Parts: sequence; structure tokens; C-alpha cells
Amino acid sequence: MVIKKEIQYSGKAKTLYRTDDETKLIAEFRDSLTAFDGKKKGSLEHKGHYNAAISAHIFKLLEEEGVPTHFECMLSDTMMLVNAVDIIPVEVIVRNIAAGSITRKYPIKEGTPLVPPVIALDYKSDEYGDPMINEDIACVMGIAEREELAVMRKIALEVNKLLIEFLDSKGLLLPDFKLEFGRLNGKIVLADEISADTCRFWDKKTGKSLDKDVFRFDKGDVGRAYYEIAQRILPEI
Ligand code: TMP
Ligand code: ASP
Repeated sequence: MVIKKEIQYSGKAKTLYRTDDETKLIAEFRDSLTAFDGKKKGSLEHKGHYNAAISAHIFKLLEEEGVPTHFECMLSDTMMLVNAVDIIPVEVIVRNIAAGSITRKYPIKEGTPLVPPVIALDYKSDEYGDPMINEDIACVMGIAEREELAVMRKIALEVNKLLIEFLDSKGLLLPDFKLEFGRLNGKIVLADEISADTCRFWDKKTGKSLDKDVFRFDKGDVGRAYYEIAQRILPEI
């Protein structure tokens, strides 16, 4: 048993607590919902539970397939015990089908298959509006080494392959998702979360969004979408 101590960091959807073991943190998944760098705000009952449960399930599945993650175990419906990692402020975005910002910033139509998958790197910074970066810019800022970024790209593609296969078995498409990584004992591991906040999930038959896009773009009943994706991924929920 670990003992929860003071808050280390409070983000837009999760709070990180120190514990009596300095190598471990508790990530509490909250019910708050934000979009567009926090400019749009809301909250949704049970969202913390659903996102925590989906993330835990996916982290376990990835660990079983040899992908290193920060996940240790769940302590409650919303509290996840994780290894304390040194977070790299780079968002690795993997796209399989064009949706979202790529269709707004470039002449690429929504729904266009992206084969092979497109990987983009963003600098994680609300202050700067998460601008797209590349290896050279990350190195100049001193936030990551070239070799680390190469490992992150390789792991991201492996995660993509595993997630596509898993979600296909649930009748879901994975247009895109975002990963974050950290350093743990000199090794790069997956961190943060993998949930309806950080992935686009489309129903294979109808193309309906079952993710945060329902909140971002007022596409319908946000509560229903989060409940439905949790049920599809974790029928026991
Ligand atoms: P985008 O199309 O808005 O750039 O989003 C690409 C993917 O990244 C999508 O699955 C949602 C996810 N994402 C985050 O997890 N955090 C963010 O801050 C943003 C903008 C997107
Ligand atoms: N995660 C970002 C925010 O909460 C942006 C997004 O997901 O659209 O503001």
C-alpha cells in the first residue's frame, strides 16, 4: 500500500500526487473536460472513471505485448498508481485517417486514409499553443535527444499496430491518437493516458465519434459518447 501525499502537479484532466514512495505517483483522473488548450471548459460525471479504466486496460494490453509504460495498478475507480517519470514535453500524434487539425491546416479531406500512418510531433505547451515541432527544434530547445525521439516514433508505431487490432475487435476505427513519453531509469516509457480524451474513436459501421470530439465540436450527447466507448472497450464497466 502506498500513502497519498501532496499534489505534485494539477493538469487539465488529471491531478498527480506524490506518495510515500518517491518512485511512485498517483494519477487521479478527474471529471473535468477541456478543449482548445483549456479555452473550452466543462465537466462530465464518471468521465474520470471511464478514462482511467480505458487507460489501465490499454496500458496492461501494451505491457503484455512488450511496450514499456508507467502504469503500475489501479488503486480505485479514478486513482492510478504510476512510476514517477521525467516527462518529455513532446506530444507524439499518430494518424491513420485524416480528421481534426490536419484537415483544417492542410488540404487533406476528412476520412482520407493515411497509409503509411502519419506521425507529427507537437511541443506540449499551453503557453505556445502546442506548436508542431520536429527533431531539430526539440534538440535546439534541449527537451529531448535525437535518439530518444527515434525510440518514441518506433514505440508509437508499435502502439498504433496493437491498438488498431484491439479496437477493430470492438468494431472501432482509430483515426488518430496522441502519446506522451517519459524517462524511467534511462529508458523511454509510455506515460500520461490513452483514452477518449487523447484518441479519436469512430464506430466502424456508422463513422460516429465516440471520443472528445463530441465535446470539442458539440456533436451530440457527450455523456452518452463517453459511456458508450467505455462499454465497448470494457463491457464489464
Ligand atoms: P488534432 O486533430 O486536434 O490535432 O488531434 C489529434 C489527436 O490528438 C486526437 O486524437 C486528439 C489528440 N489530442 C490530445 O490528446 N491533446 C491535445 O491537446 C490535442 C490538440 C489533441
Ligand atoms: N487537451 C487540450 C485541452 O484540454 C486540447 C484538446 O484536447 O482539444 O485544452
